[in-house]
Amino acid sequence: MTRATALHIDLSVISANVSTLRQRIGAQKFMAVVKADAYGHGAVRVAQHIETDVDALAVAITEEAIALREAGVVAPILVLEGPQSEDELLLMADMALWPTLHHAEQLAWCGQHASLLSAAWLKVDTGMHRLGFSADALPQALSALQATGITDITLMSHLATAEYPEAELTRLQQGVWHEQLTDWPAAASLHNSAAARTQSEGRSDWARIGYALYGGQIKGLTPDETLRPAMRFTTSVLTLRDVKSGESVGYGGRWIAQRDSRIATLPVGYADGYPWAAVDGTPIGIAHQTAPLAGQVSMDMMTVDVTDCAHIELGAPAELWGAHPTVDQAAQHCNTIGYELMTRVTSRVPRCYHA
Ligand SMILES: Cc1ncc(COP(=O)(O)O)c(C=O)c1O
Repeated sequence: MTRATALHIDLSVISANVSTLRQRIGAQKFMAVVKADAYGHGAVRVAQHIETDVDALAVAITEEAIALREAGVVAPILVLEGPQSEDELLLMADMALWPTLHHAEQLAWCGQHASLLSAAWLKVDTGMHRLGFSADALPQALSALQATGITDITLMSHLATAEYPEAELTRLQQGVWHEQLTDWPAAASLHNSAAARTQSEGRSDWARIGYALYGGQIKGLTPDETLRPAMRFTTSVLTLRDVKSGESVGYGGRWIAQRDSRIATLPVGYADGYPWAAVDGTPIGIAHQTAPLAGQVSMDMMTVDVTDCAHIELGAPAELWGAHPTVDQAAQHCNTIGYELMTRVTSRVPRCYHA
């Protein structure tokens, strides 16, 4: 490793977050969402570390589940996007995966291979309008699925605005969900991180928790200090220079010094996953202080105004996100969300695991 830029993942923090969230979700079973490489934290490492502490795992696509099985993960795994072909359904059966079923063709494929499937999750579209059977089509879908002989069926839905319990859309979705569950005798799953945080109304026997597991904070809610960030994106100062008042820094000359200033250049850029969209003033942790980004982020470097910081020398440690600033604070300055930042750190950045 020649440059200092690295992504540190603390697996023990994820375990601690699991324990904290267990208390939050009460009697619900815990499904840890490890899709998108466990939100950038490394799906195999995370799944191996927590699989005995949770009741099941969830991924988006079958390839992600296969990678976990090949690494020896034996926990139940739900594939949230379900099969895109009959062959994929067979592969899922072969790997003992749980498919999410959300359209009629998938039910027909299940009819052909039901004996190979141990369980299935049936998705109802309560109003997000992304995946799932409409409430009107659900009874027929359910009959078709039951007719295949699969008995372990979990009903699921997903809230579009779970972080806003009073929002009209949340209320509407909860109403539709409630109606579907009136006579539903088996398990049901509605809650994600935000719904678990807000103690959302609506029956849920399984919570599907992703972002909060990694210590992400839910936008719009007051931060939950008991959850800690498991990811730290760090680097150190590559070089320092003084610029005079009126001189500009970086591409396009966007940042112009309003006073004589000291600029630290960090060896990390958008090719590493730090957003090009970051605006001047985006907080960067540096030598245990906070300094503002000064100038357009380049492919491999970025510049920070450290004029007001003490003890900044070559090699001084810098934190792009982690404890200070958090990934959510960084995202606020980059026209994005912490979810995107976590999942976009590129393979050029070495991963360092701590347990
Ligand atoms: C269907 C479904 N359930 C659960 C989750 C987990 O959501 P969160 O990371 O907000 O907990 C997601 C995430 O996108 C999802 O698509």
